[in-house]
Order: sequence, then structure tokens, then C-alpha cells
Amino acid sequence: MGKQTVFVIGAGQMGSGIAQVFAQADYDVYLHDKDGAILERARNSIERLLYRSVEKERITEEERNAIVNRLQFTSQIEDAKAADLVVEAVVENMDVKKEIFKQLDEITSPYTILATNTSSLSITEIASVTKRPEKVIGMHFMNPVPVMELVEVIRGLQTDDITYETIVSVTKTLYKTAVTSKDFPGFISNRILMPMINEAIYTVYEGVATIEDVDTVMKLGMNHPMGPLTLADFIGLDTCLYIMEVLYEGFGDSKYRPCPLLRQYVQAGWHGKKSGKGFYTYES
Ligand code: CAA
Ligand code: NAD
Repeated sequence: MGKQTVFVIGAGQMGSGIAQVFAQADYDVYLHDKDGAILERARNSIERLLYRSVEKERITEEERNAIVNRLQFTSQIEDAKAADLVVEAVVENMDVKKEIFKQLDEITSPYTILATNTSSLSITEIASVTKRPEKVIGMHFMNPVPVMELVEVIRGLQTDDITYETIVSVTKTLYKTAVTSKDFPGFISNRILMPMINEAIYTVYEGVATIEDVDTVMKLGMNHPMGPLTLADFIGLDTCLYIMEVLYEGFGDSKYRPCPLLRQYVQAGWHGKKSGKGFYTYES
């Protein structure tokens, strides 16, 4: 394959990291967001992380400049027409994702693979709004993307072998490991992780322990790098709630009922680290 162009949609914490790792792996990358201020924040964040890599002597100044030159920031979704691969990383909402996939199906070449970074939503349902469901696939990166080595690859009902094999080999070019999941709510990762986070929130909600103590138990007692409530803030409480709702509706099992405290925090606009407040308070 020649040099490939990747179009990343959504420049939040995930999209920004995804664009960075593709540019580091020699792809030409466009990063798109409808919000210009978020695009600017993503540019600053990527440049800061790349400077850090130069300081730590992981890359040279020349390599840093080349990576930056491979990245373009755009508020025009129409720029996706140049893409060989699109990776969508907007809010975890089926209606928003369907609307974007409908547009992408019109804008891009029929050969372009359309991947979604969804944490939990049905790939098969997202694919259904396109005329190329065989070219739609889940490519689920973990946060923080430049650090975490896993990519969960999810085949929708109609995803074809060539699309699947291409995404597995693209994952290798990013120096990450692909693990394949069937298209079930929350796939492997969030079917296991999110009920633990939800249970940690119930533990606080029911007054069993404080936020700090729940996190300390899981850090010191189970050797988790972050306590589950710190991790929930890091992921985004809105995203955690959306995922729990997908599990609850998808499996129809009360064991996935989102904790009312999680729902209330999201209603208050406490979306975790990215909004400055969640279970903890953060400096901007
Ligand atoms: N972006 C990029 N790099 C970051 C980063 C970020 N947001 N946060 C930390 N890093 C880098 C640091 O720069 C540092 O790199 P250096 O080698 O250059 O120093 C390295 O990661 C380690 O960071 P720190 O020393 O500051 O802190 P740490 O040792 O506590 O590690 C952590 C930070 C890697 C985030 C670690 O706490 C961790 O692994 N936490 C758990 C993360 C996790 O569970 N992620 C999965 C979330 S679930 C998900 O993603 C799926 C979903 O659908 C919701
Ligand atoms: P985020 O809130 O940080 O960013 C979402 C971005 O999408 C925002 O910048 C927003 O402006 C943009 N956006 C929304 N609608 C758009 C549209 N119509 N067109 C263009 N841009 C639009 O969210 P995030 O944490 O980066 O999550 C993004 C996706 O990645 C979600 O599907 C989430 O479930 C998934 N994900 C999140 C994590 C995590 O830990 N946060 C991990 C893996 C996967």
C-alpha cells in the first residue's frame, strides 16, 4: 500500500490521540471537529505531547516536525473525500453517529473503510445507514490513545473479511495489539470495565465508603493504576452513562442499571476531568 490518508472525526480526547498515533505512524491525517475551539485545543495538546517525546529523546526534532506536517486540522467534513480510512470519534450517541455515517457514505469513495471508535454501540446498526455495510467496522482505541496498546476490533454482521484484515494490519502499523470482539453491547472491554465503575458509584451512593476510599481500595488493594472513580472522571461521566444505558437496554438485564448518582452528575453537567468537575475537581 502507498501512503494512506486517514480522516478522524471528533477532536475530543479520543480523536486527538487517534490522529496523533496515525501521524506518528506515517499516515497523512486530517482531524475534523465541528467546533473550532476544540480543534485548536487538540492541536495544542498534540504539539505538547510531541515536544515531551522530543525531550524524552523518543523522537528527534526533525521527526516531530514531520509528524506535525502530516497533520491537518479541518472544520469541513467534506475533506473526508480524500480519505482511505475514516475513524469516527464523536459523542457516544447513536443518532449523531448515524447522521455522520450517512454523510460519509455520500462524501467518500465507495472503497473507503468507515471505522467507528464507539465504546459500546452496535456496529451493525451504524453500518445500516450506509450503502457499504461491508466496509463499516469498529476500531476501538483505549484512553489515553498514545499510551494504551490495545485496539478492540469489532465486526458488524456484514463487515467483510478484507475490511477486517485491513484494520487488523493497520492496527499493527500503529504498534498496537488488536483483539477481536463480536458485535455485542460494550464488546469485551466495556462489558467488563463499566459495570465495575458503575458498582463503585453505587458504593458511594449507598454510603458504604467515600470517593477517596473506594479509589484507594482498588489502587492499593487490587493494583489498578487509577481508582474506578478517577478513571470514570478520566473517561468522561457522560460517556460512562451512555455506555451503561447501552448495556442496560441491550441486554435487558437489571444488573446493568446505571447508578442514579451517575445520572444526576451528568444532568448537572459534571462530565469529569474534561468539564473540570466530576467525582473530583480539576484545575482547567
Ligand atoms: N495523553 C497522552 N499521554 C499521557 C496521558 C494522556 N492523557 N496521560 C498520561 N500520559 C503519559 C505520560 O505523558 C507519561 O509518559 P512519559 O513516559 O512521557 O512520562 C505516561 O503516560 C505515564 O504517565 P504518568 O507518569 O503521568 O502517570 P501514570 O504512571 O499514572 O500513568 C496512565 C497514567 C497511563 C493514564 C495510568 O494511570 C493508567 O494506565 N490508567 C488507566 C487507564 C485506563 O484504564 N484506560 C482505559 C480506559 S477505558 C477505555 O479507554 C475504553 C472506553 O471505551 C471507555
Ligand atoms: P469528547 O467529548 O472528548 O469528544 C467528542 C468530540 O466530538 C467533541 O469535540 C465534539 O465537538 C465532537 N463532535 C460532536 N458531534 C460532532 C459532529 N457532528 N461532527 C464533528 N464533531 C462532533 O469524547 P471522547 O471521550 O473523545 O469520546 C469520543 C468517542 O470515543 C465516543 O464514542 C466514546 O464512547 C469513545 N471512546 C471514549 C473513550 C474514553 O475513555 N473517553 C475510550 C474509548 C472510546
